[in-house]
Amino acid sequence: MAFSTLCAVVAFALPLVCAATVQERASTPWAFQGCYTDTSASRTLAEASTTSSNMTVETCFAFCTAGGFSFAGVEFGSECYCDYAIQFTGVLSSAADCNEACSGNSTETCGAGNFIDIYWNGTPPPITPLQLGNWSYGGCFPDSVSARQLSNQIIIPEGVTVESCTSACEANGFDLAGLEFGQECWCGDTLLSSSVVRDACATACVANTSEFCGGSNLMTIYENPFAQDCYLNTLTFAFNLSAVSPTDGTITPLHVAIIETVPMISWSILTTVPGEFEFSFETIVNGGMLPMSTSEPQFQTSSLAVAVGESPVFVTTEFPPTAAGPYCSMLNPNIQGIAGQVLAVNSRKDLWALCPNTTAGNRLDVVYSPIANHPHYNSASCESVYLGFTESS
Ligand SMILES: *[C@@H]1O[C@H](CO)[C@@H](O)[C@H](O)[C@H]1NC(C)=O
Ligand SMILES: *[C@@H]1O[C@H](CO)[C@@H](O)[C@H](O)[C@H]1NC(C)=O
Ligand SMILES: *[C@@H]1O[C@H](CO)[C@@H](O)[C@H](O)[C@H]1NC(C)=O
Ligand SMILES: *[C@@H]1O[C@H](CO)[C@@H](O)[C@H](O)[C@H]1NC(C)=O
Ligand SMILES: *[C@@H]1O[C@H](CO)[C@@H](O)[C@H](O)[C@H]1NC(C)=O
Ligand SMILES: *[C@@H]1O[C@H](CO)[C@@H](O)[C@H](O)[C@H]1NC(C)=O
Repeated sequence: MAFSTLCAVVAFALPLVCAATVQERASTPWAFQGCYTDTSASRTLAEASTTSSNMTVETCFAFCTAGGFSFAGVEFGSECYCDYAIQFTGVLSSAADCNEACSGNSTETCGAGNFIDIYWNGTPPPITPLQLGNWSYGGCFPDSVSARQLSNQIIIPEGVTVESCTSACEANGFDLAGLEFGQECWCGDTLLSSSVVRDACATACVANTSEFCGGSNLMTIYENPFAQDCYLNTLTFAFNLSAVSPTDGTITPLHVAIIETVPMISWSILTTVPGEFEFSFETIVNGGMLPMSTSEPQFQTSSLAVAVGESPVFVTTEFPPTAAGPYCSMLNPNIQGIAGQVLAVNSRKDLWALCPNTTAGNRLDVVYSPIANHPHYNSASCESVYLGFTESS
């Protein structure tokens, strides 16, 4: 503001000085960011492109500037790409990998095959808002036309933004909002799948290039925290559980440990101390949690109903009860230390606690919704936790 005012005043008296100043500022904003990998299947700068047998770095800057983009990149001698952000599929490489002369100026470098020289004009990249009114960011999820994460598409004539999509989903009574392809808004109450793709939703919203609206076959999901709905009661991945403190992010690995055995049957609970026998992972099928052992797969184990004030109980027998029950996953409540979803029971993810078990040497056991006057713990010494899934890598 101060600059343009000054320029207008100076322009009146000395037009040449002002014109020269403006030109100098306009010709130097693009700063080299490095040589990145690129593939035709997943572009590192994905919004716009052009090719020319007369390509120069300046021609590419002019093309991307005209489109309003803040990143410009030259590749393979004659290709130019633009975007509002560098996509996560591009990996910074050695500058020496970009070694091809530009088709329009042999003294300049224009990337190479599958390597792109990237420049940035200094405009901040779009952001993923983490909280908007009652809505909080829940992750970036894969989506496809044949299997939609959320089933209701809402058309918003004024343009799809994180603000307009979450408001539209809220107005229509939905708990989840999803943004995709920079311009689609989807709403629903349940998610189809649980796997999160980190950093991948990086397509700017067409209607507001300061924020991201999903990606290509990728949905940015927002959750209304007033909603208390289970999202999945069958998980497609094996996991271990960890207790995560919402106050300081402390992560405590959990174990399914056998506490009582009679011939042909054992009972286990969820606790912080490994038992003699180690279950190597858990999974959830139709709401039942199934702790498994890779070394002793014949030890079939299944969860029982969860009782208020008690630790989750599992039974190991030759013929365990059919898996069915109250377990499900819900979107994580933005607690530091939890990457994916959290474990819930009867649509409540916020009732878990770690309680020192006074009849077991103060061993910290997981308790669902601690109660007063329990024979094995004092509810005043229980600490609230969320239960996060740790997937094997
Ligand atoms: C190539 O581009 C330069 C400027 O970038 C221009 O002066 C020249 O005429 C162009 N040549 C052809 C063959 O298009
Ligand atoms: C070719 O590139 C060099 C280095 O950037 C530059 O100095 C020169 O002006 C360019 N020539 C043309 C014709 O664009
Ligand atoms: C959040 O939801 C509550 C309960 O539905 C509602 O009263 C409130 O107006 C909402 N707040 C915002 C900012 O939308
Ligand atoms: C555009 O997005 C930015 C970043 O989220 C936000 O601050 C701004 O309010 C948005 N503008 C509109 C008109 O929604
Ligand atoms: C506490 O320890 C006792 C004895 O091992 C066990 O029966 C009980 O399930 C444990 N945990 C809780 C929360 O009661
Ligand atoms: C679960 O933890 C055990 C050790 O406690 C480990 O051997 C196993 O690989 C883990 N499984 C997963 C799925 O992370």
